Amino acid sequence: MPPFLQKIEECSIVEAMLHLTLLHGKKMLIHSATQLLTIATPPQKGSDLGQLNIIEDGAVLVRDGKIAEVGSSQELWEKYADEEQLDAAGRVVMPGFVDPHTHVVWAGDRAAEFEMRLQGKTYLEILEAGGGILSTVESTRAASLEQLVKETRPRLQSMFQHGATTIEAKTGYGLDLETETRMLEALLVLDDEGPWELAFTFLGAHAVPPEYVNKEDEYTTLVADEMLPALKVWWGEKAGERQLPFVDVFCETGAFSLAQTELILVAAKELGFPLKVHADEFDNLGGTALAVELGAASADHLVSISEKDVEALASGITVAVGLPGTPFGLAEGDYTPAKDILEAGGTLAIASDLNPGTAWCENIQFALALACRYMKLTPAQAIAAATINAAAAIGRHEDVGSVEAGKQADLLILDVPDYRHLGYRFGTNLVQSVIKEGVVYPND
Ligand code: NIG
Ligand code: FE
Repeated sequence: MPPFLQKIEECSIVEAMLHLTLLHGKKMLIHSATQLLTIATPPQKGSDLGQLNIIEDGAVLVRDGKIAEVGSSQELWEKYADEEQLDAAGRVVMPGFVDPHTHVVWAGDRAAEFEMRLQGKTYLEILEAGGGILSTVESTRAASLEQLVKETRPRLQSMFQHGATTIEAKTGYGLDLETETRMLEALLVLDDEGPWELAFTFLGAHAVPPEYVNKEDEYTTLVADEMLPALKVWWGEKAGERQLPFVDVFCETGAFSLAQTELILVAAKELGFPLKVHADEFDNLGGTALAVELGAASADHLVSISEKDVEALASGITVAVGLPGTPFGLAEGDYTPAKDILEAGGTLAIASDLNPGTAWCENIQFALALACRYMKLTPAQAIAAATINAAAAIGRHEDVGSVEAGKQADLLILDVPDYRHLGYRFGTNLVQSVIKEGVVYPND
């Protein structure tokens, strides 16, 4: 539980309501930010990545959960002297991070497997032997809705406290319609709870389930012809006004071939689902070019990407999502070749890939620190990749990812004097307060 909520629990109802009103910030002027990173541009393509559009001694006026005005402290002070004030002196203010690739909902853990990997077994060997993703499938299938919500909530709380205000979340540990929809239901419950905001992805093709071993094509057809149409009906009944979830496929040796990936994604597209692809995590099967061809919102991982696939990213809308926590988590040496992707004109985002197998890291700031070191991004590039470009990877760049009038007031106050502390420092939380749709959640 965030300290803020703990505080609320400890005081009387009246005190708590006062506290909430004070922090609710229906109207609020945040001022005196040493640096206000507005990042106020469309998604930043190729070598344009890294434009932070900094206002020194900056201020943001928040009204009804939205950003009403952005400018210098002097300018906004004069106009809005009577508003409730939040003094950010000595601190950096920036948009909330968007984490566009996570597997945050699951049951259990894989600590024993981590040890096996340290002793020499590879990730794909463990998967082939029925472990890896399949071991989490076993524990997730056995978990009730309540259990899934209970295990996932603290992870979301921690991600939020580390600055992720919008978080994509995938299914993929059910591999049958019943468990996959239970995972989605858990995510819907947690999205309603907030304060975080979720984007949803159906990853029924994350692995071939044990009951379909040696019948991979049969499972592929099941996903395309039965699960997806049933999912569409289920979503219509359960998810209210929300847009259809993304459909994602793990296109990889030991998971789904390029042809199987295409079959599922084409069926999903015909049903109106937006698309994503896990591609080139270990082997280059051509999933990235397929993602671009089908107009997927993103192609993710891209470690073993070919030159041809890098070039494909230059055209179309597909965002390349690097997940540096994954090679780090697997103690592997190769990372997404960000420089090649940027030189070719691709749009690059970064994400945590939070999952129980390869990257259980709830701190998106750590992904930035890794991206600076191993993907050779500057702190400014890493920040743009984890805000506006990350928002584009889930189709939300019109609402979140930058500090611009009209957008959601999703902001971070960092307890640092210069934005380059992000990337430079790692392992501690630099976020002092998270602001989600105008409501302030202090970390201390
Ligand atoms: O993105 N690669 C596939 N999916 C995850 C790992 C999931 C797991 O190991 O549980 C990933 O790295
Ligand atoms: Fe993943």
